[in-house]
Amino acid sequence: MSTPGDTDLLAEAEAARAFAHAPYSRFQVGAALLCADGTIQRGCNVENASYPAGICAERAAVAAAISSGRRHFIAIAVAGPAGVALGPCGICRQVLSEFSPDGTLRVITRTASGTTQSTTIATLLPAAFGPTDLKPG
Ligand code: THU
Repeated sequence: MSTPGDTDLLAEAEAARAFAHAPYSRFQVGAALLCADGTIQRGCNVENASYPAGICAERAAVAAAISSGRRHFIAIAVAGPAGVALGPCGICRQVLSEFSPDGTLRVITRTASGTTQSTTIATLLPAAFGPTDLKPG
């Protein structure tokens, strides 16, 4: 199978979005994480009556991929409601950064007008805190 393009990944994210559990915010989000082995891991936001227990679509996708032995990622597409220019939240940027030490993970989203845009995790989270910053005190 050929490498999926940005539009293909966004379609996967849109498909995952249909499974979102977002009864509190009513803001459904889907993610599609392209792994180095060519597989695509979907994720969606999963909210909870205890609000802070909710998880974003991006982190749900990362957790599922890691849980099935895949930890090298090439790109992630994120799809929210049409007309919204979505950007991953700060916590998701940090989590994505953990698995892209060189910062080259591509982050694909839609603009408010529906066109596709792509950037890198290093652009979204410059000077990220990472494993090498952890030194015993
Ligand atoms: N959300 C995501 O899943 N991903 C994003 O990139 C932005 C926000 C979720 C979290 C929460 O369930 C809902 O959208 C509203 O913030």
